[in-house]
Amino acid sequence: MALPHVRPKDDAAPQSDARASVAVARPRLPAAEAILPYLERIDAARWYSNFGPLLTEFEQRMADRFGGQAAVTTVTNATQALSLTLQAMDLAPGSYVVLPAWTFVATAHAVTQAGLVPWFLDVDPVTWMLDPDQVADLARDLNAEVGAVIPVCAFGAMPDVDRWLAFREATGVPVVLDAAAAFDTLFDARLPAVVSLHATKVLGLGEGGMLVTEDAALALKVRQLTTFGFMGSRESLMPATNAKLSEYAAAVGLAALDSWPGDRLRWMRTAQMLRIALIGRPEVKFQEGWGSSWVTSVCTVGLPDRSAAAVARALREDGVDTRAWWGGGCQTTPAFADARREPLPVTERLAASTLGLPFFIDMDAGEIAHVADALGRALG
Ligand SMILES: Cc1ncc(COP(=O)(O)O)c(C=O)c1O
Repeated sequence: MALPHVRPKDDAAPQSDARASVAVARPRLPAAEAILPYLERIDAARWYSNFGPLLTEFEQRMADRFGGQAAVTTVTNATQALSLTLQAMDLAPGSYVVLPAWTFVATAHAVTQAGLVPWFLDVDPVTWMLDPDQVADLARDLNAEVGAVIPVCAFGAMPDVDRWLAFREATGVPVVLDAAAAFDTLFDARLPAVVSLHATKVLGLGEGGMLVTEDAALALKVRQLTTFGFMGSRESLMPATNAKLSEYAAAVGLAALDSWPGDRLRWMRTAQMLRIALIGRPEVKFQEGWGSSWVTSVCTVGLPDRSAAAVARALREDGVDTRAWWGGGCQTTPAFADARREPLPVTERLAASTLGLPFFIDMDAGEIAHVADALGRALG
């Protein structure tokens, strides 16, 4: 019997309301003709998975973005990459992993899947991200009960990596950066970082993820965990899984990298147009640097205090689809309702006061004007 098809709300093809004429997202991966030369290489080589020439090339081209200082380990998706990275760190089973409540549920699922326990902390009201000093205070109060920390790049923004390195140095607590949406902003591999290559991201393969790290031993261990615990032989040396990417995924990835320089400019242009269209609306706050110094595939804006639900309703009436990408915060989802947490007033306020507006690489001027006009009416 076929299982019912489950399509989560923020899947690659968002389900807009029938009346919504501007969708919240319209992912665009490389066209068939751009992928074809790579598919022909697969046909010629007859090498379809298990670290073939295309995947090796894709990982190398990704590593080149870090000036040769980093190893890139591809994984089936970022959730698995986070989970396997935590597993590779050999933390005591049941250790707490501190993460922000203001994140997508995948971050917390990765923790539980690694046999660890999520502990939600609030975020900084300006950056929307964890503050290392706050985590250090918590770790000090708890005397080493914290096994690891996962700062999350809020919608692709980059936290202050130097401050996190200082935190790691001072506390000895390992840090893994959830850089799921931060393909464009991640150029520093001193902290292990996980990027999502999902279709909804700026550089997507459909499904995919990667660990980027200067820690060669960690990269190797995660690689081993993705391939049955094998390392140079067919002997399984540790409990592991299969989380490899195929040559077909690599073909899409290579085509996506070919078009990235132009695509980045297109994302930037669309973002700039949206910012200009909303220039007379200072109450609509963009993330710092969004669309000017960095790009990401979503446009989450700050709105007047606790107005997000009402604005979303008004926009929907006006034919504009929106999304609360991180819902009420991770702590509100049934899966993590019982998870340990600190007080979360900022997360609660962000959940009620931010909204994902329509944003996609080829949004046209008419769609941008429609969003800006509707938002103007919704805000009054
Ligand atoms: C913050 C964050 N972490 C992790 C993930 C999981 O990425 P993936 O879909 O590649 O598993 C996402 C996905 O959007 C995310 O936004």
